[in-house]
Amino acid sequence: MITFESVSKTYPGGTQALENLDLDIATGSFTVLVGPSGCGKTTSMRMINRMATPTSGRVLVNGQDVAEIRPVSLRLGIGYVLQNGGLFPHRTVIDNIATVQRLLGLDKKAARAKAYEALERVGLNASLAKRFPAQLSGGQQQRVGVARALAADPPILLMDEPFSAVDPIVREELQQEVRRLQAEIKKTIVLVTHDIDEALLLGDKIAVMAPGGTLQQYATPHEILTRPANGFVGSMVSKDRGFRALSFSTLDEFSSTALPPRGADGRISMAAVAPGWMLDLDPEARTALWINEAGTTFPAATMVRRGDSVRSALDAVLASPVSAALLLDANDVPGAYITLEDLAPHLRPSPVAGA
Ligand SMILES: Nc1ncnc2c1ncn2[C@@H]1O[C@H](COP(=O)(O)OP(=O)(O)OP(=O)(O)O)[C@@H](O)[C@H]1O
Ligand SMILES: [Mg+2]
Repeated sequence: MITFESVSKTYPGGTQALENLDLDIATGSFTVLVGPSGCGKTTSMRMINRMATPTSGRVLVNGQDVAEIRPVSLRLGIGYVLQNGGLFPHRTVIDNIATVQRLLGLDKKAARAKAYEALERVGLNASLAKRFPAQLSGGQQQRVGVARALAADPPILLMDEPFSAVDPIVREELQQEVRRLQAEIKKTIVLVTHDIDEALLLGDKIAVMAPGGTLQQYATPHEILTRPANGFVGSMVSKDRGFRALSFSTLDEFSSTALPPRGADGRISMAAVAPGWMLDLDPEARTALWINEAGTTFPAATMVRRGDSVRSALDAVLASPVSAALLLDANDVPGAYITLEDLAPHLRPSPVAGA
């Protein structure tokens, strides 16, 4: 457990970075601090490993005031991932990752063995081990940064805007990777971002902060989306909010229509949804083609299953030329289809307080 007890911070010169922060971060949870630039996210996070100190109040790790823990031993138990990977440019990838174990007193060989494990865990090929950071892509450098933070197996991992320097595709990959890692290793992760979508995607709990270092809401993504505490939180999530909320509800209870039987030509008439359209289904090859009156074919690229999010089902329906998405049965064979009408009852946005 990481606890902030009425923590305030005023920097010399008078900037109030943090005002009276009270926050309990459960062990093993993924917590995201989100808010606009300058609202005190980095300052709060650095207080956990004593890279910043409160002007008043206390930060406790497992009940112990961090002010009473020696910074070196505190930091060895807390991995820290910086924005640009924060790698040592003159050390190879593997030696970068081994840094912390070396500090922990492991000999070079044992430290490197641990480092190779960490490299694999973040999805990097061992062939990269002997390269220098400058010889890696931005996304790879970021992974090495995560590997270094993980290598010493610290119970707590701090990540300050770890994905902001990479392009959107790599970012999405890294986000998925970190989510998978968290599910696997159950560390306490505290991540800072100014991107509300990233926060909603990654966090078990999200702390929304506003300028002046004031906490606005501390809640689950679902609560933040459906019951924002005030106008500030509401405006952060309001853009595309209804659409975002769809990602969180799954399609378990919805109507669908069984596919009609095949005709003499082996094709299925889809006249019920689109006059003249046919479906050519090959369950063996797991392919499906929509065919229009002129004989032009369109692959049914996205199919859905029960349990998928409403958002992905909506995407699939909208991507289909007949506005119907094929529904896979338990054996992954299309047996029915869903239409916009089936989804409609699930698409109503929920009201936003104060917005
Ligand atoms: N060492 C410092 N000395 C003086 N003021 C500082 C110092 N570090 C941060 N500040 C100020 O404290 C406030 C909070 O800074 P902090 O870095 O915690 O914000 P942040 O939410 O992480 O912002 P960003 O999203 O831009 O990284 C800002 O106004 C910043 O200018
Ligand atoms: Mg910051």
